[in-house]
Amino acid sequence: MSTLIGQARSGERSQSITLQRAGGTVEVGYEISEGADGSFILLFQDITAQVRTRTERDRLLQLATVDEVLPTVLHELRNPLAAVTLAVEVLLEEAEPRGDAELTESLHTVLAELRRMSLVFQGIGVGGRRLRVQQGAAIDRAVHEVARIMDRLAHQSGITLHIDVHALPLLPFDPAVVKAIVFNLLSNAIYACRHGGHIKVSLRPRSPEVLLLRVTDDGRGMTPEVLAECTRPFFTTRSNGSGLGLVVCREAVEEADGRLIIDSAPGQGTRVSIELPVPAMPMMGALPSSRRSGLGPIDVHDPVKPEE
Ligand SMILES: Nc1ncnc2c1ncn2[C@@H]1O[C@H](COP(=O)(O)OP(=O)(O)OP(=O)(O)O)[C@@H](O)[C@H]1O
Ligand SMILES: [Mg+2]
Repeated sequence: MSTLIGQARSGERSQSITLQRAGGTVEVGYEISEGADGSFILLFQDITAQVRTRTERDRLLQLATVDEVLPTVLHELRNPLAAVTLAVEVLLEEAEPRGDAELTESLHTVLAELRRMSLVFQGIGVGGRRLRVQQGAAIDRAVHEVARIMDRLAHQSGITLHIDVHALPLLPFDPAVVKAIVFNLLSNAIYACRHGGHIKVSLRPRSPEVLLLRVTDDGRGMTPEVLAECTRPFFTTRSNGSGLGLVVCREAVEEADGRLIIDSAPGQGTRVSIELPVPAMPMMGALPSSRRSGLGPIDVHDPVKPEE
């Protein structure tokens, strides 16, 4: 009772408590008001039904956001985004020959953000699509493309991205799903790294029958508690995260009979390895590294154990 009076005095007028009963729990809401003579009036109400409805509404809203509302929103956003991207590309083509370095750099930055946005949309939009498909596709190119877009963003945060993508034969994976996976892993790695950090994305055959996609960063790493929870739906430590990135990756990989393995330790960095069974493929060399000198098959300090 003294707690309730304390609450009333501190201005906290309405609260609820959960009571254990034989048939289950009962949610009891109460309101406190203070009379002129210093007495208190307490009003109790069984709000179990309201609480259940609210919980169910929140759950449905979450599902609706992911499964129903999102495709419509994405559809509405995709066309204007494509138009704006095209307009910036044209502006850039005109600005570059004029030698205006500042304008060119700004337009490159805008373009990188627009492309990242488009990757986000693709990533969300691939929900329901499968990683493993019948038709072979150039997965090496898909990984390289995403890595190059993300490289610009990493660079803006003072992070160096090393790309080590080996040339591969056409493989039976959906390039859009592959891009979404690489985008999610690189977004996490960039977010985890500080200025001066290093990330490595590599794609190579681990053996003739197993493809290995790996993203390694030397960022802040995960505590054992976060590591245990990180692939649980809606688990996030990011203020604006949805906690779905790793879930999407793991589900897609496991559905393709692959494995997603995360090694991480606080202050040591994180290594996410994806192993996918593939039809026997020849071992091939690395693709030529991309435009900036920072890119290429350079080793990033491995967070947990040496790369096999
Ligand atoms: N490379 C990493 N380094 C450190 N922590 C990581 C890393 N990758 C994931 N995590 C942890 O796992 C959590 C879940 O990651 P996940 O990608 O599923 O969701 P998110 O990044 O929080 O949100 P989003 O759905 O927008 O991707 C992150 O919030 C973070 O705490
Ligand atoms: Mg994420």
